[in-house]
Amino acid sequence: MSYYNECVEKFHKLKDKKDVVVLSIESSCDETSIAIVKNGREVLANVVASQIDIHRRFGGVVPEVASRNHITAISNIYNEALNEAGIQKEDIDAVAVTYGAGLVGALLVGVNFAKGLAYKLNVPLIAVSHVYGHIAANYISHLDLTPPFVCLMVSGGHTALLRIDDYNKMTLLGSTVDDAIGEAFDKVARVLNLPYPGGPEIDKLAKQGEKKYNFVVSKSLKNTLDFSFSGIKTEVVNLVHNARQKGEEINPSDVACSFQESVTDELVSKAIRACKQENINKLVIAGGVGANSLLKQKANANCEREGIQVYSPVLKYCTDNSAMIGAMAYYMIKDGLGLATLDLTAKPNVNLGV
Ligand code: KG4
Ligand code: ZN
Repeated sequence: MSYYNECVEKFHKLKDKKDVVVLSIESSCDETSIAIVKNGREVLANVVASQIDIHRRFGGVVPEVASRNHITAISNIYNEALNEAGIQKEDIDAVAVTYGAGLVGALLVGVNFAKGLAYKLNVPLIAVSHVYGHIAANYISHLDLTPPFVCLMVSGGHTALLRIDDYNKMTLLGSTVDDAIGEAFDKVARVLNLPYPGGPEIDKLAKQGEKKYNFVVSKSLKNTLDFSFSGIKTEVVNLVHNARQKGEEINPSDVACSFQESVTDELVSKAIRACKQENINKLVIAGGVGANSLLKQKANANCEREGIQVYSPVLKYCTDNSAMIGAMAYYMIKDGLGLATLDLTAKPNVNLGV
């Protein structure tokens, strides 16, 4: 029997298997990561090799450099993950991999490694969306968390509100019409000459500043669940450039604080609007910007007033990691979804919800 036909049978048997061990691979951007996750909730290993220090000198991720570094790192990370989990190759029931969204060259390293490994171990290959992985980061962070909930997805590539009725039943309620919130954070950081990645730097700097500037998020989407961050980003960039041209002093921490205050107000108020509209009192934050301290603080305070319970991933699962991919893969396997052939390829974009 061919590899794929054998795996179709194995894949369907996994639905009823008591313990399912998934080895998962993530290489969509500048983190090479391999994890081993049992039953979608128990992280046996999560090895993450970050390339941040390599890309910092360029002020952002250089795709070609990212791909090369994934290639040199991935085999060692695989061995490290097996050692950390204390399991044998034979214990792996499936290999999962991020196939998109992300940098195609970077993704291809993970996808090809996953294909080779799945074939060698003769186990099913599961194709996982990076974006859904970010949601599943919450399942390994909060063992009690189950759908239904509203998800506020805030990453470098996506900003959206989703209704999650079940692990694989997601409806898009609203999304950004232009920039993702992570992009806006990174751009504002750049104009303030802060190192890459800019989000955490703005988060730190804002703590020393005051809300001196009234940067506003576009009001045109006020009555919707969509977002727009390009206007506020341009407003900040113009203010900084104009001040520099006139030789005027600006305090970067006040700029960071004012920007962060406005965008976090927007994110939290729309998330609460979504919960009320959908009549759901559970809000789950997902994605790298979910690490933002003010966003978490405001979400907790404002949601408590509305009787909404807030979940966000523990810090190490907020930004890119493969444990979240292993968690998502488990729930896909249980619903009979995601089985890929060895023709699987990388996709720069993936759809959100249905
Ligand atoms: O989810 P993620 O790791 O990658 C994508 O899937 O896009 O998100 C990366 C984004 C970057 O824009 C980064 O600046 C931002 O998350 N980020 C933050 C913080 N930590 C990471 N933004 C604001 N505050 C933070 N503490
Ligand atoms: Zn991500």
